[in-house]
Amino acid sequence: MCGIIGYTGKNSALAPLIDGLRKLEYRGYDSAGIALPVEIGQPLYIEKRAGKLKNLEDVLINTPNSTSGIGHTRWATHGGPTDTNAHPHLDNEGKLAVIHNGIIENYVQLRAELEKRGHKFKSETDTESVVHLLSDARKEHNGDLAASMRSVCKQIKGSFTLLAMHSDAPAHIVGARRNSPLVVGIGKGENFLASDVAAFISHTKIALELGQDEVVEITPSSVVVTDLSGQIVNAKQYEISWDASAAERGGFSHFMLKEIYEQPKAIADTLIGRADGLNLNIKFKKFEKIVIIACGTAYNAGLVGKYAIEKWGQIPVDVELASEYRYREPSLNKKTLVIAISQSGETMDTLMALRYAKSKGATILSVCNTNGSTIGRESDSTLYTHAGPEIAVASTKAFATQLIAMYLIGLEIGKKLGHLNKNQVISINEQLTQLPAKVEQVLETVEPLRELTRKFKDAQSILFLGRHVGYPTALEGALKLKELAYMHAEGFAGGELKHGPIALIDKGTPVVAIMPTQDSVLAEKMASNIQEVRARGAVVIAISEFDFAGADHLIRIPNVDLLLQPILSVVPLQVLAYEMAVARGNDVDQPRNLAKSVTVE
Ligand code: F6R
Repeated sequence: MCGIIGYTGKNSALAPLIDGLRKLEYRGYDSAGIALPVEIGQPLYIEKRAGKLKNLEDVLINTPNSTSGIGHTRWATHGGPTDTNAHPHLDNEGKLAVIHNGIIENYVQLRAELEKRGHKFKSETDTESVVHLLSDARKEHNGDLAASMRSVCKQIKGSFTLLAMHSDAPAHIVGARRNSPLVVGIGKGENFLASDVAAFISHTKIALELGQDEVVEITPSSVVVTDLSGQIVNAKQYEISWDASAAERGGFSHFMLKEIYEQPKAIADTLIGRADGLNLNIKFKKFEKIVIIACGTAYNAGLVGKYAIEKWGQIPVDVELASEYRYREPSLNKKTLVIAISQSGETMDTLMALRYAKSKGATILSVCNTNGSTIGRESDSTLYTHAGPEIAVASTKAFATQLIAMYLIGLEIGKKLGHLNKNQVISINEQLTQLPAKVEQVLETVEPLRELTRKFKDAQSILFLGRHVGYPTALEGALKLKELAYMHAEGFAGGELKHGPIALIDKGTPVVAIMPTQDSVLAEKMASNIQEVRARGAVVIAISEFDFAGADHLIRIPNVDLLLQPILSVVPLQVLAYEMAVARGNDVDQPRNLAKSVTVE
């Protein structure tokens, strides 16, 4: 949560800062702020506003010219979303500014000590204690901001990405990270620091990865990385493969819509070069069980993964909410393979569950979309999905590629453990290859959903039903609707309805049902479940690969093997949630209260 950008170079800093914040707004949009040095040794120019970036932009009139600066977009944790709690935070002289992503866990104690030493606090944030600590440390370190940052990092607990600058050295920005992301963008005569490469990709494609507990100093012509003892670290440089245009809306009204339509390409890109195997450097034979850990949409992808891995790989799979996992002290050991799924690769709940599993001797395979992310780096092996940058807060194309990753892992295990013969492998690979074209077909036929959506836009609640892999798909459909339309929505296993949830059905309750494939034994069972809800007044929208006559509305999808069906059946659910959000006048790309990358527990 929270987006961070720093710029130092030869050009005016304002444009790259605001442009960077726009790209990072998906990380939080409770407030935005910037700090710019104007005159050496004088107070910094600072402007910050509660609400979206637009509120800040509206007051940036006659902004002084400066060739360096820092900017922040916030997802509030400590202290409400007010102007005062917005970052940057300043020292008492107004010359030192700090921005932060993460949580300083020992801030209450630090604040009490700092107040005793005479520091005046203005905000309710945990971050403000860092700027006061840094201000004291600068005095001890003769104004050396990097040395001061190293000493402050040793005193603070929790997770953080920090950027700091002081007007005594206006072209110099110092950053540090622990458990939260920070990347360096290396330009020509200009350098960047940001939470995500999307913030500077239109300026440079050369980036540096920063490790845990590292401090970085940038000027227009230099980048120096050290560990907390001050030793120089040779950080890994890499070229960003994403195109700058991938982080633009490209003619679509919202990023989410663009990303829904990018799914065929994202699926194809994730499959490329993997038909012959995954090159994971993992010996699957030694594992007695697999545990999948993930959150939200990634968790739903994991649930589908369970079906594929158990069927093709014949190995027991548990799927766990990462936020719950480590706290119940689960039993796992060297014979456990843990698969951590995370688009961002930075989700704190998933990272902490991963570290717990690692400490118990489990092998970690991660499925990530973001190169160089913490989860990828801390895993024994990583299977990267190739969804490209996903900017809309609600995940769509990343989910599709996570499903593909699950199928590929299931296939790999099936092959390696000898449960799939050559012909089966060829057949599954062929079916996977056909998926991009089939998703394309679904996208061409979702039009009727627009009208249907308007019909149900004022419904009290929408229920989603599915069986087998249709059940996690129903959960995903309900999650999308909740987060985008702010409506009550729930996903149920079709057979479970009669055990309680059927009491929710009233006259006119919309129910979205995902029909299993016609050849599956479950198609008839699902048809009965649909009859049960219709008999009680529900209006049923069925998503089906065949001409199912038992629903009020039918959305047809192409035929695929039942296991692969979520790739197709989720698309109308994404479109439904999108259209519903538009119809209800909601902010599609930045739904209320959310942030894309959840870097707090
Ligand atoms: C929902 C959504 C979230 C994420 C979850 C995990 O649309 O995007 O539920 O799936 O926060 O995020 P990652 O995959 O980055 O770990």
